[in-house]
Amino acid sequence: MIIAVDGPAASGKGTIAKALGRHYALPVLDTGLLYRAVGLAVLKAGGDPDIESDTLAACAFDDETLNDPALRSEAVGSLASRVSVHQAVRDALVKRQRDFATQPGGAILDGRDIGTVIAPDAHAKLFVTASVHVRAQRRYQDALSHGGHPDMDSLIADIQARDTRDMSRDHAPLKVADGADLLDTSDLSIDAAVRQAIALVDAQLEGR
Ligand code: DC
Repeated sequence: MIIAVDGPAASGKGTIAKALGRHYALPVLDTGLLYRAVGLAVLKAGGDPDIESDTLAACAFDDETLNDPALRSEAVGSLASRVSVHQAVRDALVKRQRDFATQPGGAILDGRDIGTVIAPDAHAKLFVTASVHVRAQRRYQDALSHGGHPDMDSLIADIQARDTRDMSRDHAPLKVADGADLLDTSDLSIDAAVRQAIALVDAQLEGR
């Protein structure tokens, strides 16, 4: 069984994917981390994330890299978004994601193109979203709780820039997959969002 969870930055898709993983006892892959690893490697190598040939060598990272806490920063998220527009980067990461998706017993993957490109035949698909303001507010609280000094206006601007880039790129842009259910988490607590996600997935699985 494959469950695809897509959506924009800070929509809650990662939290929901992890909760679904616990509920259905399935392993979860946060595919954004793969693009983040490429973005960080390009930066460390002194390359330009906007130049496709600079990003290629960066795609050959080992699994250990995915545990680096530096991958979680907003700056690396933005680098990830920039390297993810290149077809060569997307191609280099496909096999890793498909191998994870097709492991015996099933899997959950969250990202931008899971239901459209990586696993179009997934057994259940969710598109998790939330208003830009709510998403920026979540990032704000998150930064505060980690001792940061976030600026709301720049968080909103970053999220809007990332949405625009992820939705308008030529290759595998962020969009609602055929057969996906929309889940807007703007006004939902985490518990309520998870309950709705489980109800939607159960209904999709029953309807097959
Ligand atoms: O989910 P995230 O914020 O960690 O993702 C970081 C960036 O990686 C995102 O802005 C676009 C890219 N990405 C992608 O293109 N395809 C995916 N399946 C996951 C992430």
